[in-house]
Amino acid sequence: MKKEVVIVLDFGGKHKELIARMVRGLSVYAEILPGNVAAEKIREIAPIGIIATGDPKAEMPAINCPKLLPAESDAILREKDGREILNNFLFNICKAKGEYKLRDYIATQVKLIRQTVGTQKVLLALSGGVDSSVCTALLAKAIPEQLTCIFVDHGLMRLNEGDEIEAAFSNRNLNFIRVNAEERFLAKLKGVVDPEKKRKIIGEEFIRVFEEEAKKLGQIPFLAQGTIYPDIVESGGQYGTTIKSHHNVGGLPENLDFKQLVEPLSMLFKNEVRDIGRRLRLPAALVNRQPFPGPGLAVRVIGEITKEKLDVLRQADAIFREEIDKLRTRPSQYFAILTDSLSVGIKGDTRTYDPVIALRAVKTDDFMTCTATRIPYPTLERAVSRITAEIPAVSRVVYDVTSKPPGTVEWL
Ligand code: XMP
Repeated sequence: MKKEVVIVLDFGGKHKELIARMVRGLSVYAEILPGNVAAEKIREIAPIGIIATGDPKAEMPAINCPKLLPAESDAILREKDGREILNNFLFNICKAKGEYKLRDYIATQVKLIRQTVGTQKVLLALSGGVDSSVCTALLAKAIPEQLTCIFVDHGLMRLNEGDEIEAAFSNRNLNFIRVNAEERFLAKLKGVVDPEKKRKIIGEEFIRVFEEEAKKLGQIPFLAQGTIYPDIVESGGQYGTTIKSHHNVGGLPENLDFKQLVEPLSMLFKNEVRDIGRRLRLPAALVNRQPFPGPGLAVRVIGEITKEKLDVLRQADAIFREEIDKLRTRPSQYFAILTDSLSVGIKGDTRTYDPVIALRAVKTDDFMTCTATRIPYPTLERAVSRITAEIPAVSRVVYDVTSKPPGTVEWL
């Protein structure tokens, strides 16, 4: 049966992904293509309809368009009944059947992965982020015993995070390898203050550790990655490929000789990936995980990194997250920073001179810009009094209200 597809043609609109997600939410598969795509490509896909987003004066590709939505995307978004417009377009004009269901996605991918991989082995670098976690769970379902996951624990994770990741995957049908490389990473980072140097050292060390572990396993023909649809759209777009030949992405070693790359989530948006994760019974803490930078807490300790500083930051960060998680709506990203400023304080009868903790919570759609979240004051107060009471080394906490720009999300 031919798959029902609607194309979202991108003429520079900033809402292309939102429109595509809305269409998928109405059970019709939507694919984003650049406005200058060859007409031949569109004919090949044979969509049941096309939605043009962005510049309303842009020239359409020379195609005998099946059904075109005349409305510019912003108009749909301004309309209170934008969903109604899409509903009408999809089901009355394009006569869509609405057969796109995420529950079918798992079965389809399981079949496709099995066909592609056969009885051969697959290697995966598991970071514990949403995408690589869901990718792991899907592969563990498709090819139990053939999958090996390497989780490099660089010692820069948040409180208990390494153990949570291990707990979520060690009981699945896969060969889970946790490499405890904390000492190795901290030794390399000793004395390093410059943020870009920290990132470079961590990236290089990660590759080295992964390579060493992979070599121990012998030749593995497939490398799996949790690439998702926005990664593909942002890097130029690719129609409907879940499995393509290997190119170096995601900072993985170039000289590991893989035959093919397996990317079973490459057609999904983040919300869909989370949905699949829930269906695969991953713990809520992993599925709802907020974005966390690859170099971990190294970009949240200002100045030199030591285990002691990391432990203080981990505790403060855990308290802040715990308090924020009690709110009904959560910020897009929220965390603590260990600054290199010292301040005078009083604890009991003692005068202290200890580092200042900063708290940050931001709201954003795309992380290119953000605003600081107006956290309810009682939540902030509770977080601050808990941090100063429960962590002996902290007597002062500040809240960062800077937007991006001029600030960035992370301090480093
Ligand atoms: P900035 O600080 O650039 O952050 O406003 C935007 C988003 O990117 C994340 N971030 C990183 N993610 N490696 C990553 O994987 C990094 O080095 C890195 N630096 C920032 C940040 O957490 C935010 O979500």
